[in-house]
Amino acid sequence: MIGDFRLFPEQASTVASRVDAVYLSLCAFGIATALLVAFLIVFFGIRYRRGANVNRTSGGGPGIVIEMMWSIPLFVISISIFVWAGQLYFDIREAPEATLDIFVLGKQWMWQIEQPDGRREINELHVPVGETVRLTMTSEDVIHSFYIPAFRVKMDVLPGAYSQAWFTPTKTGEYHLFCAEYCGVEHSLMGGRVVVMEQSEYQDWLGGMTGAALTPESRGRRLFQQFGCETCHVPDGVVDAPMLAGVYGAEVALESGEVVIADEEYLRESILRPNAKIVQGYEPVMPSFEGQIQETELRSLIEYIKSLADEEVETQEGAEEPEP
Ligand code: CUA
Repeated sequence: MIGDFRLFPEQASTVASRVDAVYLSLCAFGIATALLVAFLIVFFGIRYRRGANVNRTSGGGPGIVIEMMWSIPLFVISISIFVWAGQLYFDIREAPEATLDIFVLGKQWMWQIEQPDGRREINELHVPVGETVRLTMTSEDVIHSFYIPAFRVKMDVLPGAYSQAWFTPTKTGEYHLFCAEYCGVEHSLMGGRVVVMEQSEYQDWLGGMTGAALTPESRGRRLFQQFGCETCHVPDGVVDAPMLAGVYGAEVALESGEVVIADEEYLRESILRPNAKIVQGYEPVMPSFEGQIQETELRSLIEYIKSLADEEVETQEGAEEPEP
């Protein structure tokens, strides 16, 4: 139907109109330049055609003014577009303070999505309108790409690493969700929908799903015991290991002299490849958990470690105070 024809997907996030503005400006700039060049080719072709009675002598002089007249405006226009698009790029890359942290796991051939409270969905993502959502994504097998055209969000999802994306939906409704990286025979079927709901509807939806799974933190706490983390990462553990309360987001000094921020990627690496970054003053004695722990478990464990930041840090400091 001709009425349904549209060149662009709906604009349903805060960045959508900004992305489109850059894109349309580039198109307009390109089309204007092409038209000007085409016009001049035809114009000079006709004016200086064979047999035409026109002056063919050179104007003389270097023509520097003419060169400047086209090169300076073009330079200014291109650099302005570059700066404008660059700003937008950084805004898209760097997530603002998010209110909802959602975990996305890609695997051949589906998206498994985990809400902040631990509830899981397959090929569906429910979010409330107007809230900033941060996605932490990883893959269980090959490279996928998480793509929501209406939000102008597209980010590769890699095995063995976390990638991040964010969006703030501005309109309720249902939007397409795709995998935008060829990942095997059923790549084209790997997709689903994003449902943007009113706040209250979203809360109802969350509450409506009974038999709710454990939260990622409580799942993580269980894994923390199961994998034996608590034999060492406690005061007076079997082996002297770094305390984990408050580590998330903090600066960590390493044996190598480097200082790193303990973000999710760092925690992930320290669980899978503990010897990659040794904390200053500690021995490289922790075993690797590579191959023994699934991505979803890893995520829960990291959420648990993150939750330690709020709870135990004060008690630890309090316990240390009486000593001096
Ligand atoms: Cu996953 Cu294409």
